[in-house]
Amino acid sequence: MTKKPLIISTDPGIDDIAAITISLFSKDLDVKMIVPTWGNVALEYTLQNTLNLEKFLHTGVPVAEGANQPLVAPKISAASVHGKTGVAGFDFEEATNELVVPGLAATLMYNEIMDSPEKVTLLGIGPLTDFALLLKQYPNVVENIEEIVIMGANIGRGNHSPLAEYNIAGDPEAAQVVFQSGLPIKVAPLEIGNKTHITPEEMREIDKSGEVGHMLYSLFSNIHEPDGDPRIKIFDPTAVGLILCPEVFTIRDANVQIETSGKFTYGASVIDFMSEEVNAQVATDVDVDSFANWFIDGVRKADQGRQ
Ligand code: RIB
Ligand code: CA
Repeated sequence: MTKKPLIISTDPGIDDIAAITISLFSKDLDVKMIVPTWGNVALEYTLQNTLNLEKFLHTGVPVAEGANQPLVAPKISAASVHGKTGVAGFDFEEATNELVVPGLAATLMYNEIMDSPEKVTLLGIGPLTDFALLLKQYPNVVENIEEIVIMGANIGRGNHSPLAEYNIAGDPEAAQVVFQSGLPIKVAPLEIGNKTHITPEEMREIDKSGEVGHMLYSLFSNIHEPDGDPRIKIFDPTAVGLILCPEVFTIRDANVQIETSGKFTYGASVIDFMSEEVNAQVATDVDVDSFANWFIDGVRKADQGRQ
């Protein structure tokens, strides 16, 4: 596999940290830009967490400051899960902002995508505000986008509300813009992350991997699931898995629409596997052991690659 150029829109966030880390050290990905956005916690924290992570990992991928709030929806927060700063459990050394590229994220992403000799894959692991702004400001950008891969949506019960998953609920209007873009879209919904929980044995494996593994172990040990479930769920890496090891997933064609008007249904993902108007491929199952092996191997590669 030649290296896929990738842009990551993210709201780190503990599971985002894991997804970004594995992406940065994958031999099959060329991360061109990281776009921290509001989401789990405020933009000031997601931006600094991104810079601090790159400092810790000794990487130098350009960072574009993303959106500060959703397009229309009221701002929500998952600080109760990820901690006030979004990375409860590990004290990263404070980085300077030298990796931040000045300018609007939509414009910076547009230029990166249109200048790329190969089509660029977009990875969305937070609210999709910045991808929506990109698509609305620069409609021709679709010409050089390979696909959009997201962690988001839910087939059954949501985690933000009975019908809505957090990333989609964070900015339903933005999510609907993405699903109506006509681009190839792959979705790792809540059910996949709920199934690929990390076991205590896998936690110990991760911790033994090295300083990167220990950082992730420390963060995972501090995730507070709202439902009190002691099993550790890492949602965002499942979207990276859809790009790098799609063979471990069961993926089905579907029509996905996002509810943007209902009082009790706002942010709901309406996923229809029976529709003939397919606009997305949705993961409906995963080989848990194969994914766990891939994930732990990705952490090991990060420890080996971090000089
Ligand atoms: O619903 C899980 C998603 O919401 C993950 O991306 C997590 O980081 C939070 O943003
Ligand atoms: Ca996230």
